[in-house]
Amino acid sequence: MKIALIGADGQLGSDLMKTIKGEDVAPLYYPDFDITQPEKTREVLSRLQMDLVINTAAFHRVDECEDKPEISFLVNSLAVRHLSLICKELECVLIHFSTDYVFDGKKGKPYVEEDAPHPLNVYGVSKLAGEYFVRNILERHFIIRSCGLYGEAGCLEKGANFVDTMISLAEKGKTLRVVNDQWVTPTSSAELAQRINELIHTDHYGLYHLTNEGECTWYEFAQEIFSLTGKKPHLEPIDSQTYGALALRPSYSVLENKRAKEIGLTNFSHWKVALKDYLIKKGLI
Ligand SMILES: NC(=O)c1ccc[n+]([C@@H]2O[C@H](COP(=O)([O-])OP(=O)(O)OC[C@H]3O[C@@H](n4cnc5c(N)ncnc54)[C@H](OP(=O)(O)O)[C@@H]3O)[C@@H](O)[C@H]2O)c1
Repeated sequence: MKIALIGADGQLGSDLMKTIKGEDVAPLYYPDFDITQPEKTREVLSRLQMDLVINTAAFHRVDECEDKPEISFLVNSLAVRHLSLICKELECVLIHFSTDYVFDGKKGKPYVEEDAPHPLNVYGVSKLAGEYFVRNILERHFIIRSCGLYGEAGCLEKGANFVDTMISLAEKGKTLRVVNDQWVTPTSSAELAQRINELIHTDHYGLYHLTNEGECTWYEFAQEIFSLTGKKPHLEPIDSQTYGALALRPSYSVLENKRAKEIGLTNFSHWKVALKDYLIKKGLI
């Protein structure tokens, strides 16, 4: 299978590069390859003659999206529309990544794929619009919603992932204030990449929730990082209002991997197991 991987040096992209073996993968890097330039995107993808395009690109600094709705919609929605049109023309499958932030959190228990989305911020609305473009234009697609990704390459858009940021701040002796009223499922991008590697060999197209198992607040996530690494920083729980981020975030955005279980993908591990695995691989424990 010939695969074009967009954002190949990103957090998830790097793990996909390591995981997808035995296939002909063409890595595409920003800014040489920029999905907001439809003509060049079309030219490159038609030259590659691939069977599958994997799009990990996003504008996802959530607070910045509030101030920059034009860029958010350009990258997360309009470019995704162009990509879908190109994939339709070239008759190839598209895997596109979306987010838990398409939900408002009011359900208070894990969201399944059938639940109605209701995003609270510009990022979530722009990602949801991207999802709708893919669904409207392309029959053969996979849309993957995930949550709280961390991986060895670190999140390029956000500077570093949550785990590495916590450890680095602790080592600097900073007091850490972390929100304790937003429930998520931290998810290993290495494990997500393994599930994608399974999914691409099926024709079970459509929408999937793919995250590690279990749930916690960001504060509880930080507690577990420090418990496993033996670090003892001054860690304080705070509420979202006191933290005062620009973008409103859902108080509960845990996703249930319902469809993945139905089609028999390998189950994800619990987030604590995946975190330990990550810390071991990074040589931090
Ligand atoms: N990180 C999370 O917690 C999280 C949670 C849920 C869903 N997601 C979704 O998962 C996907 C992957 O996230 P990630 O954490 O791996 O992000 P990432 O580390 O920021 O990787 C994104 C990659 O796309 C590239 N890129 C950015 N703009 C581009 C453009 N216009 N054209 C082509 N490539 C471009 C980036 O290049 P540069 O770095 O050089 O800009 C980077 O290589 C995204 O769709 C995101 O919305 C992420």
